[in-house]
Amino acid sequence: MHKLIFATNNKNKVLEVRSILGNRFSILSLKEAGINITIPEPHDTLQDNAAEKAQTIFNLTGTNCFSEDTGLEVASLNNLPGVLSARYAGNNSTDEQNIAKLLHNLTGKDRRARFRTVICLIWDSKKYFFEGVCEGSIASTPFGNSGFGYDPIFIPNGGNDRTFAQMTIEEKSQFSHRKKATNKLIQFLLQYGQNKA
Ligand code: IMP
Repeated sequence: MHKLIFATNNKNKVLEVRSILGNRFSILSLKEAGINITIPEPHDTLQDNAAEKAQTIFNLTGTNCFSEDTGLEVASLNNLPGVLSARYAGNNSTDEQNIAKLLHNLTGKDRRARFRTVICLIWDSKKYFFEGVCEGSIASTPFGNSGFGYDPIFIPNGGNDRTFAQMTIEEKSQFSHRKKATNKLIQFLLQYGQNKA
């Protein structure tokens, strides 16, 4: 089976990607690969941050790996929080603080938003990028207890006015940015990775 390190410490992201990949690939989280580091995200674009995370792990392990970076982009806020999504309310801010700041800044503004995920795969020392977008809108107040991050305030288009946090992982995956990017990764691996892992 293909073995790949997923360069993340986020358990929810690992769960989501595993539920999409099924048993076609064996995904190791950083912890499972015995790597205990926090990789910085210093860049202005999701693509550059994803590349930095994958390259860091590739340099450490020499193993095929991938990473992803995701941002919530709100058009009426000039696409913020975007690449700053994890630290929108300040360094080390909690999900609750980020959500509170976003809801405050959105008062009286257009609430359309999208999640965008960029995956960087390092395969045979080369980098490949895959993007997934989920269009939706920001709820007036948080709803639901599932998921993570901004899930309680993000309502995907076509999701019957439910937030991601009101959905199971499988339901979220029907719409999600991460699922779309991961599907492109799978297509690549199935096409080019057959005999190489
Ligand atoms: P990063 O990709 O780990 O840098 O995530 C950036 C920020 O977006 C963090 O605050 C995450 O919690 C949040 N985030 C990433 N993916 C999702 C998602 O699928 N749903 C909700 N929030 C997310």
